[in-house]
Amino acid sequence: MPVTVSQEQLQSQFTYIDAVAALIRGKQLRAYTHTFGCQQNEADTERIRGMLHEMGYTMTDKPEDADFILFNTCAVREHAEDRAFGNIGALSHLKKQRPDVVIALCGCMAQQEKNVEKIKKSYPQVSLLFGTHALWRFPSLLYRALTEKKRVFDIGGEDDIAEGLPVLRAQGPKAWLSIMYGCNNFCTYCIVPYVRGRERSRRPEEIEKELRELVAAGYKEITLLGQNVNSYGKDLGLDIDFADLLRRLNAVPGDFWLRFMTSHPKDASPRLFDAMAECDKVAKQLHLPFQSGSDEILRRMNRRYTAEEYRALIADARAKMPDITLSSDIIVGFPGENEEDFQQTLRLVKDVRFDLLFTFLYSPRTGTPAASYEDNATSQEKQDRFERLLKAQDEIVAERQAAYQGKTLRLLVDGTAKGPEYPFTARTEGNLLVCVRGENIQIGQFIEAKIEKTSLRCLFAQKL
Ligand code: 5AD
Ligand code: SF4
Repeated sequence: MPVTVSQEQLQSQFTYIDAVAALIRGKQLRAYTHTFGCQQNEADTERIRGMLHEMGYTMTDKPEDADFILFNTCAVREHAEDRAFGNIGALSHLKKQRPDVVIALCGCMAQQEKNVEKIKKSYPQVSLLFGTHALWRFPSLLYRALTEKKRVFDIGGEDDIAEGLPVLRAQGPKAWLSIMYGCNNFCTYCIVPYVRGRERSRRPEEIEKELRELVAAGYKEITLLGQNVNSYGKDLGLDIDFADLLRRLNAVPGDFWLRFMTSHPKDASPRLFDAMAECDKVAKQLHLPFQSGSDEILRRMNRRYTAEEYRALIADARAKMPDITLSSDIIVGFPGENEEDFQQTLRLVKDVRFDLLFTFLYSPRTGTPAASYEDNATSQEKQDRFERLLKAQDEIVAERQAAYQGKTLRLLVDGTAKGPEYPFTARTEGNLLVCVRGENIQIGQFIEAKIEKTSLRCLFAQKL
């Protein structure tokens, strides 16, 4: 059973929320947050913003106006780390001008020794640093940062779950709902299991309660989050798996779509697709990363499925949900990948015909097994493979998008668009981006609309 942070421990944090509130009362302080990386990080930032809001901070989107600045960081690729360091570096002058500004760094980078050392040594403007496991202790940490004249670092903590933290969600009809934390898979390229700890599932009644609150608050699209949602429940000892959870959540009354991410092919199953097909509120959309089409590379990535097994899963999902939209993650240039391995990836992409691909160049992560694997391909070769993959995918997407021409679809309006001709953005059930026009359109509304034209990145529709 996963460990839940006790009521007493949480209560003490609520006391610190009050203490910070008392400390800053009447000062009209502002907070700025910047999130790198995945949806899990975005969900974490929303909890921190919830705590800041309870303390009396108002939010600003300009760091130069803020009294508290937070970077929630990602360690999954080097590029994300470089950007975080760049952003913090750029704030050194601000800290010199206004020494009272509290600059904080949290998230996956803060959970790694090498980064902590670098911050300690070379980024004195950071006065508060805490890891993913210490998130629920943020009120006491901020209190210390505000009252003690020294830097505060907390990268300790257990693989536990804190329920009942306040949350300040982004505006709009979409909400994240974390159902589990951590990862047990140890794919050989991936830093996540080292920085987010072991898999732990929230109890189903807590998840259902939060979903009911979201629906009552008017949210229309709720995405269930976890590094590997298909292993939900394995640690609970409750005889519940992810398919059961989907059925339970689908029974919550209301007009909304349920999405989920991310799925791992080794745990996705016909049982999951049966549940998806059966549940009317579960959007017919699947993000199923395959990473590589070569069995040898998959073996060395420790993915524990073959390309053939992956194809069989897709075939089963499509047989049960013919209109399902599919997306995937791919890593190009994993150590030892040769042209033939890459051709197999390309073949899989062309055979499956995904609606959307997230393609990444392999980035070695210190502490992961693959970082010490021999790598013979040059960066030019890798770049060339990457571009060929993008080109192949663009051709597929252009055709798939064009097939929507003239169709009538149900859409969720979720924001405003840049261009004047189609002033709103919306999503299809399959999560495709649509720009819409028409009378009386409101954000948060489900509408029927007809697709008038298509492009590579967007469909264009008229509300009916
Ligand atoms: N290098 C490149 N891409 C990576 N990913 C995870 N680790 C790495 C890495 N070291 C990608 C995987 C994963 C996605 C979230 O990020 O494709 O599915
Ligand atoms: Fe990383 Fe693999 Fe876990 Fe995904 S499943 S977070 S890629 S180790």
